[in-house]
Amino acid sequence: MALAARLIDVEKTYSIGPIEVPAVRGVSLDIEPGDFMAIAGPSGSGKTTLLNLLGVLDTPTSGTIEIGGASTGGLKPKTLADFRNTHLGFIFQTFNLIPVLTAHENVEFPLHLKGISDNAERSQKVEEILEDVGLAGLSDRRPNELSGGQQQRVAVARALVKEPTLVLADEPTANLDSVTAEEIMALMKEMNEKKGTTFIFSTHDPLVMKHAVRLVLLRDGRVESDNAGEGNGHGT
Ligand SMILES: Nc1ncnc2c1ncn2[C@@H]1O[C@H](COP(=O)(O)OP(=O)(O)OP(=O)(O)O)[C@@H](O)[C@H]1O
Ligand SMILES: [Mg+2]
Repeated sequence: MALAARLIDVEKTYSIGPIEVPAVRGVSLDIEPGDFMAIAGPSGSGKTTLLNLLGVLDTPTSGTIEIGGASTGGLKPKTLADFRNTHLGFIFQTFNLIPVLTAHENVEFPLHLKGISDNAERSQKVEEILEDVGLAGLSDRRPNELSGGQQQRVAVARALVKEPTLVLADEPTANLDSVTAEEIMALMKEMNEKKGTTFIFSTHDPLVMKHAVRLVLLRDGRVESDNAGEGNGHGT
């Protein structure tokens, strides 16, 4: 089976006027289908940059990024957008739900983007995934009528509804209390086990790191350690 994602010697250097900021400095990683992987490391170590590269929201300065066996280099913006809609789900630190839409409508949105035109098919997928994330009965609420943890559950449902190859989450628990953070991690793990979806999330939080099956530590834009294959259940 194709890898969920592969980074080969990826570098990203930002330019601020004449100043060059090396953010990712030669990262190579094979991400297996079904990985549940945390990217940890100090502030500024390149976690968000790496997730943005994996999400094809940004392009590397050099190196290759493959998602689901397909290279993402040199694709046009429209093709990249289609690629994201098909293959990738995103979960953000600040939930990023659309405030005027209900939970149901927020989760339905990516299905519109994916071009599923059958109303009944969309509705069924949305209600199923909302039930999976424990929000059956709350589908008509708007984000401001939900708790932070419930909003993040909507965001998890929104990321999963189109059955992506890979879900990327940048500090998904940073705005949650520790009990709710544990619940969101348990939910993501459950979805990982039930649906086989690959998850990559960044975190500062040791409580979140302990849920990871695979833990990659970044320092100064490089992989400092990676426990893949160290009897951690990876690939099993
Ligand atoms: N748009 C940008 N322009 C210039 N430099 C940037 C930009 N984004 C990030 N950087 C720099 O790149 C490096 C890596 O930043 P990044 O945001 O990836 O770190 P991080 O590990 O996510 O940090 P944090 O834990 O604080 O979120 C830092 O030195 C940062 O200042
Ligand atoms: Mg960050």
